[in-house]
Amino acid sequence: MIDAGHRDRDGRVITLRPVDDDNWRMVADVAPRDDQRNWVPALAARYLLLTMRGDVWRSLAVYADETVVGHVMWGVDDDGSHWIGGMIIDATEQGRGIGRATVATLAGWLAARDGKPPVRLSYHPENKAAAALYKSLGFHPTGAVEDDELIAELTASPRRP
Ligand SMILES: CC(C)(COP(=O)(O)OP(=O)(O)OC[C@H]1O[C@@H](n2cnc3c(N)ncnc32)[C@H](O)[C@@H]1OP(=O)(O)O)[C@@H](O)C(=O)NCCC(=O)NCCS
Repeated sequence: MIDAGHRDRDGRVITLRPVDDDNWRMVADVAPRDDQRNWVPALAARYLLLTMRGDVWRSLAVYADETVVGHVMWGVDDDGSHWIGGMIIDATEQGRGIGRATVATLAGWLAARDGKPPVRLSYHPENKAAAALYKSLGFHPTGAVEDDELIAELTASPRRP
């Protein structure tokens, strides 16, 4: 479990936990709003299949106290950089500070790993919510673009949400 002590606006503790035999169905059912499907798949199930089918990405369940509220994944690139991807906060749980707490928790954990690796992520330039969130936590565009998405790197210690 990754627990940096961050809470959402309702005071629930946000933790990141492995996907296991008990929670995988709830993680698979995590769904964005319909208007967000330009940026992410209709269900987190797609990300679970991606992480199962390869060795690059690892899925994590996002918990608010003991409730599954989202999915996020991380991976290590050939150059040693660490990446955050596949973040979906369930449509019913958005706007409560969970996305902010999730990125702060995972970015801090990745940045503290051996060798203090660069931490990167990417987002579509029209995904304003994601862009604002990442920027406010210290991710800045590197100028690189991949698959129509802007790549951003953490350039400051992630702040507390
Ligand atoms: C992006 C996402 C993860 C944010 O999760 P969330 O739990 O709703 O976000 P939070 O409540 O923690 O808000 C964090 C910040 O996101 C931004 N944000 C969230 N919703 C927003 C909206 N509707 N419009 C603009 N900005 C928004 C704000 O900057 C907000 O800052 P604040 O804390 O000062 O209000 C969520 O909207 C989501 O799952 N979207 C669909 C999937 C997606 O786009 N994933 C990212 C792919 S790169």
